[in-house]
Amino acid sequence: MGRIYDATWGRAFAALYDRCFKAAEEAGLREMRRQLLAGAGGRVLELGAGTGLNLDLYPGGVEQLVLLEPDPHMAKRLRETAAASSRSLSVSEAPAERLPFEDSSFDTVVSTLVFCTVPDPVAAMTEVARVLEPGGRLLFLEHVRAEDAGLARWQDRLERPWRFLGDGCHCNRDTVATIAASPLQLDRVEHGKLPKAPPIVEPLVSGSATRP
Ligand SMILES: C[S@@+](CC[C@H](N)C(=O)[O-])C[C@H]1O[C@@H](n2cnc3c(N)ncnc32)[C@H](O)[C@@H]1O
Repeated sequence: MGRIYDATWGRAFAALYDRCFKAAEEAGLREMRRQLLAGAGGRVLELGAGTGLNLDLYPGGVEQLVLLEPDPHMAKRLRETAAASSRSLSVSEAPAERLPFEDSSFDTVVSTLVFCTVPDPVAAMTEVARVLEPGGRLLFLEHVRAEDAGLARWQDRLERPWRFLGDGCHCNRDTVATIAASPLQLDRVEHGKLPKAPPIVEPLVSGSATRP
């Protein structure tokens, strides 16, 4: 978003993140995270892990956990959360568009509320497919472009101010279309609502896609 933005609002956004999401987490978002992550297993890569709100929700079948977080203010908080956790894991500050891992390195990739913000979602999705083992799965929980045309128009109108407020978050992205156009195969998409959220970021999808 720019150096001055990152040093001011970007820093504050990371500091306020957990407080801003508290009501949503308590009203059902945490349970949605838990249900999604129940499907994670083997070698797991989480994209844009933020402050680490998913960390204590991973099930026992996870053998290796790598958390990716390129924003330095978020990464600082993520490292603090990770240090307080008994789970063995590593943190990388690489962006999703350039994953520093070999092909077929992971069994599961997780993204929760990330593809709204990555600058190049098509490149990131291509990287996800590359690092997944054949048969490996992307588990996603993302707020997306509305299916309702009227709400989608409001998302387009308010995209710019929301992006400024939301540290680069695009409220009108069709992430399911990005997955469908990628080398991944969509297995399942469920539509829901982000609890306690403004209407333009309410439409939510969760599901999985497999690398053929
Ligand atoms: C709305 S936050 C979601 C954080 C966390 N995943 C969650 O569920 O609470 C969006 C996250 O995406 C991260 N992000 C932004 N650009 C990224 C990129 N190119 N690659 C990976 N993550 C990115 C941000 O730093 C931020 O932590």
